[in-house]
Amino acid sequence: MSDAYLQLDKLTLAYGDTVAVRDLDLAIGKGELVALLGPSGCGKTTTMRAIAGLLTPASGRIRLDGADITRISANKRAIGLVFQSYALFPHLTVYENVAFGLRLKGISGAGLDARVGAGLKSVGLTTFAGRKPAELSGGQQQRVALARSMVMEPKVLLLDEPLSNLDARLRLEMRAELQRVQNETGVTMIFVTHDQVEALALADRIVVMLNGAVEQIGTPEEIYNKPASAFVADFVGFENVFALKDDKLATPNGPAALSGPVPEAAGLAWRPRMVKLGSGPFPGTVRGTSFAGNSREYLLDTPLGPIKAEIDANLPPYEIGSALVFDLPVAGAANLKRFG
Ligand SMILES: Nc1ncnc2c1ncn2[C@@H]1O[C@H](COP(=O)(O)OP(=O)(O)OP(=O)(O)O)[C@@H](O)[C@H]1O
Ligand SMILES: [Mg+2]
Repeated sequence: MSDAYLQLDKLTLAYGDTVAVRDLDLAIGKGELVALLGPSGCGKTTTMRAIAGLLTPASGRIRLDGADITRISANKRAIGLVFQSYALFPHLTVYENVAFGLRLKGISGAGLDARVGAGLKSVGLTTFAGRKPAELSGGQQQRVALARSMVMEPKVLLLDEPLSNLDARLRLEMRAELQRVQNETGVTMIFVTHDQVEALALADRIVVMLNGAVEQIGTPEEIYNKPASAFVADFVGFENVFALKDDKLATPNGPAALSGPVPEAAGLAWRPRMVKLGSGPFPGTVRGTSFAGNSREYLLDTPLGPIKAEIDANLPPYEIGSALVFDLPVAGAANLKRFG
């Protein structure tokens, strides 16, 4: 993508001899909200630190808005970074916390007042300007941290798990808040999370990382419906994931033939909901069942290994220990380009 606003080219990042991120290529458009998603230790924070200029790449390049910034110092990059621990100054008021970076840039008087005012308004904290951080809820503190970064008018705003220490309700509020701020200001945002639901809900595009490399880049729909690898499939809830070998499923008990033509793929994956119970070539025994409101989930012992299935709760239930037959319809399966 030549018109990318932020571009990472073959970025390799290391701590001493330990390579944390290898050959990372990523192109982000102006105004995009991109989520970095992946398990602990996969290199999300390391990538953010490199973009912010807090870590010098071992090799590769970073371009922002047409300029090579690989060797530009952090304070000259116009990139805002909000960490998981938002580290507000405890002795300063909300107003002064937000004003801090602007004052360092020599902004004062009415200009300062206008920008701090706009920043506080954008996160809904106008009436909290005089309070100290200790007098705010966690979510409010988080919003101060967001405002503090926003008022610097960064070209890119990096958010490293900013919602991870909020309770469920506040997380939802903050998610909406982030989307609103992003819509209104059009700031380019990269958002780190290890919560796939959060990534799917917020992002224009998702970058799934594993072991310091990109597994897949795509829209939430692509990631959710067309996972490229077994890892991504498993990560987004395809609980029945198999490698394909000679048009058969590779199972712990040997190859298993499928009904219907088999696509060219390294593997196939089915969400529990895609498993068809009551007809099909495979036998199974119900080992466990759980009620999930609108649906009922079943864990089956089968010759293919354990299979997870889910059917509407208003269908007749299967008892634990009962025998049934099922199918894994090839037509509905996600075709995995890579396995392992
Ligand atoms: N300062 C450091 N020195 C040496 N190794 C480090 C350092 N910081 C991180 N690492 C290693 O680099 C790898 C990537 O770490 P990173 O912090 O980027 O992971 P992460 O994806 O942000 O994980 P989490 O979800 O737990 O925050 C890990 O293996 C980690 O142990
Ligand atoms: Mg991290």
